[in-house]
Parts: sequence; C-alpha cells; structure tokens
Amino acid sequence: MSQAPTASHTLDGSPCGHILAASAVSGGRAARLAAFALLPAFALLPAFAVAIVAMAETPPAEPMYLGPSALAVSNDETTLYVACTDAGQVAWVGLPEGVVARRVDVPGEPTGLALAPGGNRLLVACAAPESKLLVLDAGTGERLAAIPAGHTAMSPVVSEDGRWAYLCNRFSNDVSVIDLEAGRETARLPAVREPVAAALAMDGQTLLVANHLPLARLDPEYTGHVAAAVTAIDTRTHDTTTIPLAHGAHSARGLHVLPGGRLALVTHLVGNFEETPFRVDMGWINVNVVSVVDVPRGTVTRTIGLDERMLGAANPWGVASTPDGALVCVALAGSGELSLIDAPDLLGEFARLSMQPLMRAWPTYVSLGESLWRRHALPGAGPRGLAVAGSKGYVAQYFTDSVAVFALPERAEEAGGSEAAAPVRSIALGPAPVLTPQRWGEMLFNDATLCYQHWQSCASCHPDARMDALNWDLMNDGIGNFKNTKSLLLAHQTPPSMAEGVRATAEAAVRAGFVHILFSEPPEEKTAAIDAYLKALQPVPSPHLVGGRLSPAARRGRELFHSEAVACHVCHPAPLYTDSKKYDVGSRNSQDRTDEFVTPTLIEVWRTAPYLHDGRYPTMHELLDEGKHGLSGGRREMLTDRQIDDLVEFVLSL
Ligand code: HEC
Ligand code: HEC
Repeated sequence: MSQAPTASHTLDGSPCGHILAASAVSGGRAARLAAFALLPAFALLPAFAVAIVAMAETPPAEPMYLGPSALAVSNDETTLYVACTDAGQVAWVGLPEGVVARRVDVPGEPTGLALAPGGNRLLVACAAPESKLLVLDAGTGERLAAIPAGHTAMSPVVSEDGRWAYLCNRFSNDVSVIDLEAGRETARLPAVREPVAAALAMDGQTLLVANHLPLARLDPEYTGHVAAAVTAIDTRTHDTTTIPLAHGAHSARGLHVLPGGRLALVTHLVGNFEETPFRVDMGWINVNVVSVVDVPRGTVTRTIGLDERMLGAANPWGVASTPDGALVCVALAGSGELSLIDAPDLLGEFARLSMQPLMRAWPTYVSLGESLWRRHALPGAGPRGLAVAGSKGYVAQYFTDSVAVFALPERAEEAGGSEAAAPVRSIALGPAPVLTPQRWGEMLFNDATLCYQHWQSCASCHPDARMDALNWDLMNDGIGNFKNTKSLLLAHQTPPSMAEGVRATAEAAVRAGFVHILFSEPPEEKTAAIDAYLKALQPVPSPHLVGGRLSPAARRGRELFHSEAVACHVCHPAPLYTDSKKYDVGSRNSQDRTDEFVTPTLIEVWRTAPYLHDGRYPTMHELLDEGKHGLSGGRREMLTDRQIDDLVEFVLSL
C-alpha cells in the first residue's frame, strides 16, 4: 500500500514537502510534487496520494481541489452524484464501477444535493452571496432551472409531491421556500443562526432545520441555556418553533429523519465551556454526539455520545440511516472514521443511561459501559457528506477528492470493531490531490488525530476556522476569566493574539493551542502549515451587502464611523479596522483581571456574535445602543436611533 512515488523538485530544488501515504500519483501532478517523507499516521489510508506542493510553484490551471462534501444516489443505484464544492462542479459517477462519467459546472459552490421524487431531477444548492438552487436533469446534467436564493445555500430538500423545495441560507439565517413549478422562491422563513442542514418529517408536514451555532450572551452575569437549536417549520402554515439542543451544543452539521418521520438525528458537539479546560480526556472540553429529536413533541429526548472512554469520535458531520431505519451511520470528520450503531441500540435504555454526556458535573462523560458504536477507518481523508443506498454507504472524502464506499452490515455489531474494518473501496473523483501548504494546513486544522486520544481538532472550537460562539477559560491569561472564542480570520495579520494580547503573534497562539488544548506537540512543519492555511483565509462577503455593495444605510453609517463626533476609526482604522492596540473601553467584567483589551478587527464581525471579549452582547445593536461601545460620555445620546441603526448596518457590512 504505502509506496512513495517518484520524487521531483521544488523550484529551488530543495526538498520541502511530504507525501502522507501514496500509491498512484499521476504524471502531471507528480511533476508538481516536492520531495517526500512517509508519515506513519496516515499509512492507514490506502491508495491515496496526498502530497504537498511548494508554495512558490505556479498554480495549475485546472481546479486545484474538488473538495467533495455532499452526495446523492439514484434510486436504481447506478449513479452517484457528488457535489465537488471547491471545484464548482457536480460529478456523475457510474455505479458500481465508480467511474466519473460527467462533470457539470455550476454557479457557486455546490454544497448539497437532493433528487426529486421519481429521480429525474437533481437539485443542487449552489452557495454564493447570491446563491442559486439549480435544477438539473438527473440523466443528462442539462440545466432546467436556476432559482435565486439567499447567502450560502445548503442542504436542499424536496417535498414528496416534487412541488416544493426548501433550502437553508446559512448566512442569511433563513430558509427559502421554492415553488419548483413556478420556478421561484415564494417565502423566506427565519432560522436561528447559520442553518446548515434540513430534512422533512411527519409525512412532510414539518421541515426540520439544524442551526450550526448558538446565539446567546455569555458573560459571567448570564446563566441561561446556551445551545445551537433545531428550527421546526410547519410546511403548511410556515409557523416556526425552536427546539434547543443540549446546553453547550454547537457546531451542528448533519440532520437525518428516521423512517417513520417522527424521530430526527442531529450531529453536533457539546462544549463543556463552563469548566476550565485543563484536561481533554473523558470529554472534558468537547464531546461529540448525536441528538435525538422527538418531532411531534418538539423536544430533544436524548443526546448520545459517539466517543469511547479513551478515544474521542471527533467532529461528527453527515448522518444517515439504512432505508429500513435499522442502522445509523455517522461520518466523523475529525477522526476520519465512520461510526455505525443499530437504531434500537441508539434509542434504547443502555445508550440513554450510559452514553450521554454529563456536563456541569464530574466526570463530564458517563460512558459507564462499552460503546455501542462500531467505528471504521475510512480510506481517504475528510469525511463529510454521507449517503446510504441499498446496502452501501458512501462518504464524501473532502481532502482526498474521493468517495469511500462501505458495505453496510445488517447489524452494526456484525461489522466488528475498527480493527476488523473493511471498507469496500474508494472512488477517485480526479487525480490524487497535491496539497499546498495551505491545504495541508486546513487538513491538519480539522484533524483530531493530532489531539491526545483524538477528542477534538482545532476546528472543534474554531469551525471553518471561525468560532463556536462559546466562552472558554483558557489558562494562558489566568483562571476564572472566560473569553469568547475568536475567529481566526486575519489572526496572523492583526497581532497580538487573544483578547488580552497574551500571545505576541498568532503563530505563538497556534503552537500554544496544540500544547494546551489538544495536549500534543506536532512537528513545526505541521504548525507552519496551519499558519499558512489561516493566513490564506478570505473573508466571506457580508450578507448585509446589497449586490456586493454597501446599502444606503450602511453608507450613512460609514460616514458616522469615520466622523469626528463618533470616530470609531481612531481605534478601528480601515482596511482591517484595528490598530492592534489595547484600550480600556469600560468592558471589564466582575471576573476580569484587567481593564484593557486588544482592539479586534471588524472584518466579518457580522458572523462572530456574541460581542466583546466576554460575549456579553448577542447583537451589534445591543453593543452600540445599550452597551454604548465607543459612544461613552453622552455621545450615544447625541445620535438618533436611526443613526445607531446606520452605524450597526455599516459595521455588519464589513
Ligand atoms: C476549547 C476551545 C478551543 C480549541 C480546541 C482551540 N481554540 Fe483557539 N481559541 C479559543 C479561544 C476561547 C480563543 C480566544 C481566547 C482569548 O481571547 O483569550 C482562541 C484564540 C485562538 C487564536 C488567537 C486569535 C486572535 O486573533 O487573537 C488562535 C491563533 C487560535 N485560537 C488557534 C487555535 C488552534 C491552531 C487550535 C488547534 C491547535 C485551537 N485554536 C484550538 C478556543 C479554542
Ligand atoms: C478607544 C478605542 C476604540 C474606539 C474609539 C472604538 N472601539 Fe470598538 N473596540 C475597541 C476595543 C478595545 C474592543 C474590544 C473590547 C473587549 O473585547 O472588551 C472593541 C470591540 C468592538 C467590537 C466587538 C468586536 C468583537 O468581535 O467582539 C465592535 C463591533 C466595535 N468595537 C465597533 C466599534 C464602533 C462601531 C465604534 C464607534 C462607535 C468603536 N468600536 C469605537 C476599541 C475601540
């Protein structure tokens, strides 16, 4: 299995790359490879050439990465549709051969797929600031319709009669209702925050939507429930209700309704954010779970841990069941595994009594007995979307541009433990990807096998390199003073790091993160790759922009922001909207040891609520109006309410 391909050279001829595990590297790609060293941690992944390319090389003209993240299988199981998110393509793969028969370019990044009943039409969520729901002929790939939707569309769902489609607009925080007959959007229904996955339940009467992040204040004075939620939408009346997940729930990724339509499964993490993270084992910091939602009752009935006592099952993503509902599968993005459980076990007493996390108590995880999950290593890296058809499971492998195909046993127990795992095979969607340092860094950032006992990855608190919307009491600035997780966008460009500036640079913060939160010390080349990934992050255009430009209100707000009377720009100067200095802006709370905090960048601040170092304001309006941030000394009172709204609109547009 692991054989090094022929080495080639970087531009300056020096060896500086790695091959993680290799067999087939195509000639053209091989020519771009740097030199290689086999890394045993990945030797488990057979038939994958993942090489690192030197940064100085000219980027290839063809899409560098396919980035498969979502899948659908035709009813007759002869075609696998793969959303290749990073390439802006949908691939048609013939089954069972596993040969790519067609690639269809789509506008934006395809993030989700759904086959309309009958199987003739393929719906593709094409994410962009102005997303589209694309309707393609499932046979030929011909474009039948392109229907405008909101910002960063995900997870399309079709009604059983094929008339209606629903689409999550992740950054518009709402759900599009689309009349497929009329070919247009007819309604927008509010979700809570970053809706990312949806499915129909109750014979199509209820649309369930998983919200990725919590939206709550987090300062020491607040003791309420903090959790991501599921939004339940009545498809006839469009009434919505909110079903909160367990306290500490964040980073929801997958949602699946079990056959029968009354129970839904949601994959997410639960952060033990009220404790000091001085250890990571036993799920002390984050646990990885599947929540069971009782749809008619509108409640979460149980939150079942995926982790084992001494081995985390990090970053659960896609979730699906076999058509008879007997077996449940979960893709573990951080652990690079597939986890299987018999549905009666998941819903049974043993799991309820022994596999639920016990947050706010010692120990944090019960896991009294043996886990009922059976885990399997997967070929490739970066399992995300998951589809089940017949007796096979398909897992999109984001970082290796491949799909892992898995024969599902009738019962999870029959599949044995991970030792006995035998994934059927892997389908290559294109040439084996050559990883740039940035891409390798992205892979490592999402890789929980770098953590002691694999409990979490950097992405566990920084999903998509942003934040989990929780507070944590990292020990770098003393104990008992909780801080809101920071987005890592522009972290390297805006030193010092951390709210109190206790790390001189983001480079130092990255290395400290490994030692103190993942309890491991990877080699410098890995942390350097993570630096490269984080430095290359690009801001997502704000959903408050109109056609990519500031709205009239935001333009008025921009004037105020830079005016002498308001003068936000003194500390928050363009282009990054920070001067990197520390100030006392009156934000000290009862737990803090200091009055001064580093001025944060305001780029993408629309996405990073709650605000201030302790997350005390869940909305920008509260920060500026109630909190009078930057507007002390009677200056708030000099502004009209509309001027405050304008200022809010400008800041949220950055
Ligand atoms: C337990 C949750 C958690 C995990 C896991 C975690 N972080 Fe963080 N990270 C935080 C919090 C909270 C902050 C903000 C702390 C502060 O402001 O004092 C932060 C801040 C940072 C910053 C500074 C950003 C800035 O602009 O100031 C960097 C860089 C960073 N983390 C990198 C990482 C890396 C790399 C990993 C993986 C090795 C990681 N983090 C894992 C919670 C976490
Ligand atoms: C004296 C310098 C200073 C001025 C003037 C100032 N800020 Fe700030 N700003 C800061 C500091 C320091 C923080 C971080 C405080 C904390 O975390 O407790 C901050 C935080 C923020 C945040 C929260 C960002 C986040 O990620 O939590 C926003 C938004 C913001 N400022 C907007 C503004 C606006 C709008 C104005 C003008 C009305 C303004 N600031 C004026 C220094 C300043």
